[in-house]
Amino acid sequence: MIDLRSDTLTQPTKRMRQAIFEATVGDDVYGEDPTINQLEELAAEMLGKEDALFVTSGTQGNQLAVLGYCSPGDEIIVESESHIFFYEGGAISALAGVQPRVIKGIKGAMDPKEVKSAVRSEDIHFPDTSLICLENTHNRSGGSIVSTENMKEIFEVAKQASIPVHIDGARLFNAAVASNKKVTDYTQYCDSVQVCLSKGLGSPVGSLLAGNKELIQKARKWRKRLGGGLRQAGFLAASGIISLTEMVDRLAEDHEKALRLADAIEEINGLSLKNRPDTNIVIVNIEKTHKSNEEFLNDLKREGVLAVSFGEGQIRLTTHYDVSFEDIEQAISALKKIV
Ligand SMILES: Cc1ncc(COP(=O)(O)O)c(C=O)c1O
Repeated sequence: MIDLRSDTLTQPTKRMRQAIFEATVGDDVYGEDPTINQLEELAAEMLGKEDALFVTSGTQGNQLAVLGYCSPGDEIIVESESHIFFYEGGAISALAGVQPRVIKGIKGAMDPKEVKSAVRSEDIHFPDTSLICLENTHNRSGGSIVSTENMKEIFEVAKQASIPVHIDGARLFNAAVASNKKVTDYTQYCDSVQVCLSKGLGSPVGSLLAGNKELIQKARKWRKRLGGGLRQAGFLAASGIISLTEMVDRLAEDHEKALRLADAIEEINGLSLKNRPDTNIVIVNIEKTHKSNEEFLNDLKREGVLAVSFGEGQIRLTTHYDVSFEDIEQAISALKKIV
């Protein structure tokens, strides 16, 4: 089966399995896991922040940032199709007790002017705006890159209003590699960032939240409160170190595969792209095939290819380490055949 459902489906590489096997571990709740400590130091340095925390998932990393910055009754500015708003089970309200102020972006990028006017002024009737969240790359826009220029403008708005900025950077390394920039070119415009190790970077589990020492200390406490204080988790961190040191540059290959898929899909009568992929996610409009998403995905599965439904009349294909260039050619043949 050629599995294009998500880049979370990658299996740990041989190097990761070896590193997991050989990892030196300790009790991380006591701060005594040397491999976790090494991963956190490495992440803080790579992301250009004072400190970092290993967390169980991207969702946990995002939520710890919200919990760390906000108080119940606050309002946070989010993009209308961002993961934090769309896919995290209402956690910002359920856990942190904050309400979202939603702005519709263009390919995930919010207009800085709209962000500015969404910041609440001091008024007895208003909630306090306590956080601005960005997502880069933006999943629901098809892995599109939010430009450093856009981020800079929003960061300036935020600084003028003394509001922190958090990036959901589940796939921020994809943005950096695809735009030929350093990841710190992006993270200089945020106060905190969450990056996933278990997506294109191939690790089995984990994400990192990076920010200043005060935020990370708060996040550490919230992680423990939420039952996320892990013990000999250095086994997972060992793989995370491989992700950060050996798996970043190769993301370029995943982007190439996505472009190959996109080029071929543009040539198939009945299919069209939502937009040309910037990175590793291809969103395909299937409406003209007159098949439901379910029918289309079942037909594709019968041809040995898995994809996911992505809103009415749309499916998502995501390239990753475990899908070869040959697999992409096979997936293209399958798409042609079923259409
Ligand atoms: C943009 C984005 N943020 C956050 C997450 C959440 O990551 P996790 O599944 O590790 O909680 C995802 C997962 O797909 C994502 O695409």
